Amino acid sequence: MGTHMPAETTTEKIRTERRGAVALYTIHRPEALNALSDELIAELLQKLEAADKDDAVRVHVLTGGPKVFAAGADIKGMAQATAAEMARKDPLGQWDRFSKLAKPLIAAVNGFALGGGCELAMNADLLIAGEDAVFGQPEILIGVMPGAGGTVRLPRLVGRLRAMELLLTGRRLPARQALEWGLVNAVVPPGQALEEALRLASEIAAQPAEAVRQVKAAVRGNLDKPVLEALANERERFYSLFDTADQKEGMAAFVEKRKPKFTGK
Ligand code: CAA
Repeated sequence: MGTHMPAETTTEKIRTERRGAVALYTIHRPEALNALSDELIAELLQKLEAADKDDAVRVHVLTGGPKVFAAGADIKGMAQATAAEMARKDPLGQWDRFSKLAKPLIAAVNGFALGGGCELAMNADLLIAGEDAVFGQPEILIGVMPGAGGTVRLPRLVGRLRAMELLLTGRRLPARQALEWGLVNAVVPPGQALEEALRLASEIAAQPAEAVRQVKAAVRGNLDKPVLEALANERERFYSLFDTADQKEGMAAFVEKRKPKFTGK
């Protein structure tokens, strides 16, 4: 091992850590309130995708800073752009890759999750908010609209009318109301969102891995399909799990009235 740090470490905006089977990602760009530059998103995606392929990782947990989860896309980086430049560079195209992650992603949000920050949080499968968390899509206030899923995911989570209210006014949604509207799973005292998200992550990490993967794929993939097509897809996934060791173990343990020992196989 060399004694000097590799040069790229200094430019990293995503800090990663392993906690057992849980991969933790922390957005760290405090000088710009965690504004989501294209490079930052590329780095996050690259790290998520690497861990997604790693059998030792079962769940991803994403968090930001204590006061700001992320203040949105980098306004300074795009303020002077033309429509043609935006379309050619397509900086938000890479965001589609979040939808392709196979393992559950949990977001722990403290403080502001605005614009792209809110859109990033909505990519999570489960969302834990600190009491001081604030969500919103304020793009309308700077002359644009959401471009990374705000008009697509928000209505699916909170309903069309509530989404319209946030999207058309740029109003902010405090954590408690976000819970009431179904944008988050739980609200916890300030500073405890990550702890709660990690607890949830370990609980999910202990479940049979293939069943977890199939649940996520079924929910994510079938949400917009016609019901009969979605049901057929679910059945197919259910049947496929009968070739796993964890299914044999889980059902045997039930019959023998003992706790199952899952191996992830
Ligand atoms: N992009 C770039 N820089 C940002 C930023 C952003 N999204 N948000 C904040 N910053 C910068 C500020 O310009 C400021 O920099 P300077 O110190 O150089 O002046 C620094 O971060 C601190 O910001 P504030 O002084 O504004 O801090 P505050 O505590 O008063 O307010 C805030 C915090 C409410 C989050 C406020 O910064 C804010 O409203 N930010 C912008 C939110 C927003 O409009 N997001 C949507 C972006 S567009 C988008 O996301 C499109 C999409 O769909 C992908």
